[in-house]
Amino acid sequence: MRALTDGRGLLFGGDYNPEQWPEHVWAEDVELMRAAGVNLVTVGVFSWARIEPEPGVRDFAWLDRVLDLMHGAGIAVDLATPTASPPPWLGHRWPSTLQVDERGHRLWYGSRNQFCPNSPIYRKRALSIVTDLAERYAAHPAPALWHVGNEYGQVCHCDDSAAAFRTWLRGRYGDLDTLNEAWGTTFWSQRYSDWAEIIPPRHAPYLINPSQRLDWRRFCSDALLDHFRAERDILREHTPDRPVTTNFMGFFKPVDYARWAGEQDIVSNDCYPDPGDPLSPARTALTHDLMRGLGQGRPWLLMEQTTSAVNWRPHNLPKPPGQFRLESLQALARGADGLCYFQWRASAFGAERFHSAMLPHAGPGTRLHAAVRAHGRELRRLARVAGEPVPARVAMVFDWESWWALEEPGRPSDRLNADEQLLRYYLPLWERGVSVDVVPPSAELGAYALVVAPNLFLISDEDAAALTAYARAGGVLVVGPFSGVVDPRAHVRTGRFPAPLREVLGASGEEWLPAQDGPVPCRWAGGGAFEAHTWTESLAAEGAEPVAEFAEGDLAGRPAVLRHRFGNGVAWYVATLPETEALGELTERVLRDAGLAGALPSGVLPPGLEAVRRGEVLFLLNHGDGTATVPVPHPAQDLLTGTTVTDHVTLAPREVAALREKRPHEPA
Ligand code: GAL
Repeated sequence: MRALTDGRGLLFGGDYNPEQWPEHVWAEDVELMRAAGVNLVTVGVFSWARIEPEPGVRDFAWLDRVLDLMHGAGIAVDLATPTASPPPWLGHRWPSTLQVDERGHRLWYGSRNQFCPNSPIYRKRALSIVTDLAERYAAHPAPALWHVGNEYGQVCHCDDSAAAFRTWLRGRYGDLDTLNEAWGTTFWSQRYSDWAEIIPPRHAPYLINPSQRLDWRRFCSDALLDHFRAERDILREHTPDRPVTTNFMGFFKPVDYARWAGEQDIVSNDCYPDPGDPLSPARTALTHDLMRGLGQGRPWLLMEQTTSAVNWRPHNLPKPPGQFRLESLQALARGADGLCYFQWRASAFGAERFHSAMLPHAGPGTRLHAAVRAHGRELRRLARVAGEPVPARVAMVFDWESWWALEEPGRPSDRLNADEQLLRYYLPLWERGVSVDVVPPSAELGAYALVVAPNLFLISDEDAAALTAYARAGGVLVVGPFSGVVDPRAHVRTGRFPAPLREVLGASGEEWLPAQDGPVPCRWAGGGAFEAHTWTESLAAEGAEPVAEFAEGDLAGRPAVLRHRFGNGVAWYVATLPETEALGELTERVLRDAGLAGALPSGVLPPGLEAVRRGEVLFLLNHGDGTATVPVPHPAQDLLTGTTVTDHVTLAPREVAALREKRPHEPA
């Protein structure tokens, strides 16, 4: 399969919804797209009702014209299957195709995404239109990529879903005794005596069985994946060489992307950083590193981002000038080969009238559109980056199943969140310009010098053994609190915790102790105090050396952070939530253990300055409010400006440098 970028360079474009506009507007669109350097548009995402106005009727003529137009203009098409948004006739004639929530309420049409992934009728109709679409456009030269559905995430509690859940459970457990055992149904008289009794976790008087809920989440993700696969396989049958993707949504809880990523020819993601959140730059970088990790280091596509405000937050801040370019270049620096937007032309009607676009309502003669055009053109200067890897020696482990299991109600504290912990540990690495891949626990870890697992509440025996083997073989491992607590059935592993990681961590505990509001005072063993919060554990060292201890209260003098020389490596256990500065200090120590440094020798970069290497280019991105001056290690050429940089660069807020270091024989 050819890389999408072959002959095209970096991809630039967006969702294009020509069905919302009369055809004379299409001609203007194409002209403006060309002027902006657009080379990829996503077409057809919400076009089911346009293609199939009545059951069984097909109207492809308009889509033929759109694809011909794009091909004539040299713009490739990411052709979407329209199955994310069925027409009203489907729900009207067959209400069972509509989702049902956990209270038994049906979710009606009039919006989008109203389908039950387990409805045989939806499935039949969806696969039928996908087949016709694939047949019709198999030989058309415009489509370069298939885009299956859109942002999968439907969860349905209807009877069809209950039946599909039972089938899935039979596949997992074989017989009812095994299921009863796995779900711990001796608790609260929940024993099932007939498969027919098993239902999705519907609205109930009190807490629902956590093992049932965990399996339900697995099932829901798998059911969507099954539907995705069915569409994808039809597309592959007709166009074996055309890559297939579906757009992810970053850390989206309902869908286990680690199970989905291997099913994509290219990983793609939608990303809408909140302009009002000061942590957005790091949060976004983390999401990009997840996409790269999911694709095992391969380039990915930023399928959707936006030029300014969205319409779906309560108060939608616009992006200041320079912001969307900064964000686009951030994705590029972190491994994206395509930088696409939702959407090309701002809608005049519908629920997204007030969502920004590449071409705003006010037209092409606007500041915003001029910036889009300039950005499209400048990407040509960065074409050499396409396909290049982002080398990372640090892996952060993140697991959807553990996330689901941890955040079930009825736990010691709802203040310990898997994604939040991941971000907390990521921040000090990001601030130091240390590149990270976010990977599942089952990933091959051998090539990483440092593996950080901020929380692995649920861990399988195999994954625990792999982490243990990794440290024994010389790796540096960091494990955060409340890890190794339950097995894949969500049963607590009895005995001292964290049972399956006890050997590698050289420590064990007997109580998890959520803390009172306010700081938890701690001190480093070598001197110096710091504060933690929210969470403590009563631990005993079993070979590990205490690096920090709790300073007050019942745990005074007991270990808070431990370091264990283990085999040829080192394992750290952090039994509390250190404040930002202390996590920075901890990160420094851990990096030293791993023999790692950031992208620049200067250590901590100016606030808000992101540094990341992709291929032979060092990207410096200023997310901060002030002008930043950054020393550069070697003379370099800034690919964005064409200028030569000798010893430092100065970047105004939202400015970016893409430095290609001069080789020794090249003149400075
Ligand atoms: C995405 C979606 C697009 C559009 C966009 C608005 O979630 O895929 O169709 O709705 O959000 O931000």
